[in-house]
Amino acid sequence: RPPRSTLFPYTTLFRSEQSLIQQTARDFAVRLVEPKARELDEESRWPTELVRGMAELGLMGVAIPEQYGGAGSDNVSYALAIAEVSRACASTGVIMSVNNSLVCDPLLKFGSEEQKKEFLTPLASGAMLGCFGLTEPSSGSDASDMQTVAVPDGDEWVINGSKNWITNGPQADMILVFCCTDRSQGARGTTAFIVPKDTEGFKPQKPDHKLGIHAAHSCTIFFEDCRIPDRYRVGEVGGGFKVAMSTLDGGRIGIAAQALGIARAAYEKAVAYTHERKAFGKPLAKLQAIQFKVADMAMEIEAAQALILRAAWMKDQAVAGKGGRHTTESAMAKLFASEMSTRVTHQSLQILGGYGYSKEYDLERHYRDARITEIYEGTSEIMRVVIAANALKGA
Ligand code: CAA
Repeated sequence: RPPRSTLFPYTTLFRSEQSLIQQTARDFAVRLVEPKARELDEESRWPTELVRGMAELGLMGVAIPEQYGGAGSDNVSYALAIAEVSRACASTGVIMSVNNSLVCDPLLKFGSEEQKKEFLTPLASGAMLGCFGLTEPSSGSDASDMQTVAVPDGDEWVINGSKNWITNGPQADMILVFCCTDRSQGARGTTAFIVPKDTEGFKPQKPDHKLGIHAAHSCTIFFEDCRIPDRYRVGEVGGGFKVAMSTLDGGRIGIAAQALGIARAAYEKAVAYTHERKAFGKPLAKLQAIQFKVADMAMEIEAAQALILRAAWMKDQAVAGKGGRHTTESAMAKLFASEMSTRVTHQSLQILGGYGYSKEYDLERHYRDARITEIYEGTSEIMRVVIAANALKGA
């Protein structure tokens, strides 16, 4: 087996605490996550002990300040950590990603001080787990066309409707949910709310059956006359769509890093196999047909890493008040990394041939897990819409 290459091997570019978080995530992933990943996938088992382990290491709120229960680091560190965990287990990676970037991040950015104390602090420390409800049975890409409504009643809101494909939904302690509060206003008639799981009428359904990321449970959630106080509204009435879009600008960096980790796992196993397996009297590594696949995969992995680091760095600049939106950069990172991951896992499986197709090896798991990264948190088609809209505006 050749020496294992590392993810994001530009350690001199990173500040020491960024390298420390990466190393912490890698040690955890290699020691505790990787040995269990195949079993978690086969049994579709939620990794309770790994989620607890990530909480103990500060990985459930990497870029959240320490005063709100987080690790007090930044988005570059977050991307480094997600890639490391996802290289071992893509399911564990997305559980972490949803809590960090789809729940903690918007509460930090748009939440009230009271919401930060009551929800962000336990979420970022891992004492609570969160999920994000935007998608509905009849609206995914056209996200503002939602049927779930929130109607004001005194100083409360009454929520009715349903959300689906909610990652972490069966286990989450709360949801950040987006509801229509004024249909005549389109996207400007959307408002975000926190709904704790013990709210009457909050009904998560049984976990979905999916092609991959089996251990990261998702489900449909019904809201039946869920009453919540106005203090659980996140941001302005009518400001919810911007909360959702700005949140996804961060979330897409996490999914890009997840896709990268999956690709790297497949690539490393394929490269190792090219040295072990002989065909036509020599190792596969000596065959040009295989060399060309390895060259393309190595190059694409590097390119994805560079796009992800750029987007994460831009988000950190924005957090520090030194930059504006990173919508295009996040979309480019997600689009390229997710499609790259599909190609790399496909070619890596091809190199292992029948062994790649077999359940006895991990390649088929990586191949299945990669596919979702082109769908959730914005499909490849929506990423192209976002990139083109900004490019054509000259932004
Ligand atoms: N940041 C802040 N505001 C933004 C924004 C951004 N990135 N993008 C758009 N907005 C604002 C616009 O400025 C506009 O505001 P004004 O009305 O004040 O001008 C408003 O939002 C509406 O913008 P658009 O007209 O561009 O909106 P649209 O209806 O055409 O939709 C879209 C745009 C890009 C297609 C959007 O619907 C979208 O991103 N769809 C994909 C949804 C998605 O990613 N879903 C993933 C679900 S979460 C998930 O998968 C979690 C999981 O399980 C892991």
